[in-house]
Amino acid sequence: MSILTVIIGVVLGVCLLSTALLKWNEMKYRKKGLPPGTMGWPLFGETTDFLKQGPSFMKNQRARYGSVFKSHILGCPTVVSMDPDLNRYILLNESKGILPGYPQSMLEILGKSNIAAVHGPDHKIMRGALLSLVSPKIIKQQIFPKIDDFMRSHLSNWTNQVIDIQEKTKEMALLSSLKQISGIESCSLSKEFIPEFFKLVLGTLSLPINLPNTNYHRGLQARKKIVKMLADLIDERRKSKETHQDMLNSLMNSGDDRYKLSDEVIIDQIITILYSGYETVSTTSMMAVKYLHDHPKVLEELRKEHLGIRERKMAEDPLDWDDYKSMKFTRAVIFETSRLATIVNGVLRKTVKDMELNGFVIPKGWRIYVYTREINYDPCLYPDPYAFNPWRWLDRSLETQNYFFIFGGGTRQCPGKELGIAEISTFLHYFVTKYRWEEVGGDKLMKFPRVEAPNGLHIRVSDLYS
Ligand code: HEM
Repeated sequence: MSILTVIIGVVLGVCLLSTALLKWNEMKYRKKGLPPGTMGWPLFGETTDFLKQGPSFMKNQRARYGSVFKSHILGCPTVVSMDPDLNRYILLNESKGILPGYPQSMLEILGKSNIAAVHGPDHKIMRGALLSLVSPKIIKQQIFPKIDDFMRSHLSNWTNQVIDIQEKTKEMALLSSLKQISGIESCSLSKEFIPEFFKLVLGTLSLPINLPNTNYHRGLQARKKIVKMLADLIDERRKSKETHQDMLNSLMNSGDDRYKLSDEVIIDQIITILYSGYETVSTTSMMAVKYLHDHPKVLEELRKEHLGIRERKMAEDPLDWDDYKSMKFTRAVIFETSRLATIVNGVLRKTVKDMELNGFVIPKGWRIYVYTREINYDPCLYPDPYAFNPWRWLDRSLETQNYFFIFGGGTRQCPGKELGIAEISTFLHYFVTKYRWEEVGGDKLMKFPRVEAPNGLHIRVSDLYS
């Protein structure tokens, strides 16, 4: 009897304490004009519900509070915007004091000259430098032949093997970028570089607790090693008499003497390029393979496009820019994959002063989650939104409509969009013209907070004509 009383007492006590803590936390953030919503537990906020329930957490909160609501996720008081017009406004108005709001771990590991860490005139200069590295002319003349050469060799001997396509597309995205940056995709330096880069990526996605054996600590250590490898590479280049036509060469020789980029900035630019194109390109490629497997009619149409290109060439001829430009259906497959899988859920911003948005007051220092995922499933924009239907993208106006956020928008719209599409298109070209494949089966796919196959996505590959 007495034990039961104690248990009931403890349960009641915990309930009362929990209610008091939740109430106290709500009071702490009660301020006139803030959007509606809940703040959850002190310190942790609603992070667990957000990560566990993912998109349905967002949809439930929207159903209760509207398209703009407050919460406390990933360590910060946050306003979530699921309102397409407000999202567009935020992306277009960085100059009004809505800056990138990426987590501290990401900024520390990517470096202080990383593009997400700068704004105003510094951002303009850095973005200009990046855009000039990946302009359509440079992609056409310098980068595309490198991508073709790389993909041809990367995909050369997959026949009769079970491969993890997640692992292969990750390697593909990183090595292809390394080749474009400095031609180091297949030397001893790249062997050292790859594991460090993977640690760096994990570190950016972790809590900023710098203790031994944490992913954050390993990420910082990996950054140090990567910075050293890149600094040595720059030194070697300076000493060498050889001329190179690659991104590193352009970065080292950009601007006149007054505006020369320092080595530190060059290194952070390289890390930015590698980091920004890595997960986006690899995951889109992996998911394209998945959707093509599940939709034989789409695969048939895509293969027709690529076999048509090969018919006009000798077996060993590389792809050229005109071939790439003719890949209309492939482009549509890439957009449909990015939309349906939602490779990017949204982007993060923060306020640098109290500001009014949509009639609400957003306090200084709050994070704004420009959550664009749901727009991908809006039946007004995409009829039958859960169907994998690349044909919808053949009407190019869909790519230019106001709510196309797959590559972000406004002043920070992805400068690597065409480069990324060119890489994925070339990958798909060699993949579907050389191989057939089937899934080994049983692999789990996670859709949130990142699209990933926790144990890999295994496929059995055979020669297309065997
Ligand atoms: C399918 C491939 C890709 C997707 C879906 C994608 C998506 C995005 C998105 C959504 C943003 C906006 C971030 C923000 O507003 O905070 C962005 C920015 C950026 N992306 Fe990409 N990206 C892709 C490929 C690439 C590649 C290959 C590069 C390499 C050059 C790249 C470089 C960048 C950079 C440097 C930014 C920051 C721009 C700025 O802050 O001004 N991206 N990307």
